[in-house]
Amino acid sequence: MFIYKDIAFRVIEKEDLEILRKLHNDPSTWINLYNIDFVDEEGQIEWWKNLHKNKNDKRYVICFAEKPKEIIGRLRIQIINHQHQNCEIGLDILSEYRGKGYGKKSYEMILEFLFNHFNMNMVYLKVADFNPNAKKLYEKVGFKETGRLPQSYFRNGKYWDYIIMCLTKDEFKKI
Ligand SMILES: CC(C)(COP(=O)(O)OP(=O)(O)OC[C@H]1O[C@@H](n2cnc3c(N)ncnc32)[C@H](O)[C@@H]1OP(=O)(O)O)[C@@H](O)C(=O)NCCC(=O)NCCS
Repeated sequence: MFIYKDIAFRVIEKEDLEILRKLHNDPSTWINLYNIDFVDEEGQIEWWKNLHKNKNDKRYVICFAEKPKEIIGRLRIQIINHQHQNCEIGLDILSEYRGKGYGKKSYEMILEFLFNHFNMNMVYLKVADFNPNAKKLYEKVGFKETGRLPQSYFRNGKYWDYIIMCLTKDEFKKI
């Protein structure tokens, strides 16, 4: 478990799966996800059992530091490249905890972990052009738009740009 202020992230236990499935299938979540495959219980258990096999793709739950069973959201650290020391990240907050600062604090937590403990040199994420709230949050924690995958994200009947945002260790140290 990695603790930051009053929150933490930890590995996913079997008893977390139901709440994570609900978060993924919630329309206010999946509308903002690139991959909109809905998750069923059996498929999810299979996915969870295989998680440990992929060393370059890690999934965690975000929880309260003092009540680790209480979940705030989920976190993914993907395409981890130890040769070049970079990775992609993303997270989603349960609907009842949104708009309360947990998203921002969770990004601060994961950046602290990745730059100061996991020895990453550059961290990036991608956000759809129709999700300006999320983009604003990423800018607040230091990410800068570095490029776009034009018209590569189909949602609500049209193609949107997929925005790439990056943060280097040097930039992080200056924040
Ligand atoms: C996007 C998400 C991770 C943000 O987490 P959150 O806990 O709701 O965000 P916070 O409360 O920490 O807000 C941080 C900043 O984000 C922006 N923001 C977040 N929600 C907002 C909203 N509904 N309207 C306007 N700005 C918003 C604001 O700039 C805010 O800063 P402020 O409080 O100083 O104004 C969360 O809302 C979520 O999981 N949404 C659904 C799934 C999703 O969009 N995932 C991201 C895909 S790229």
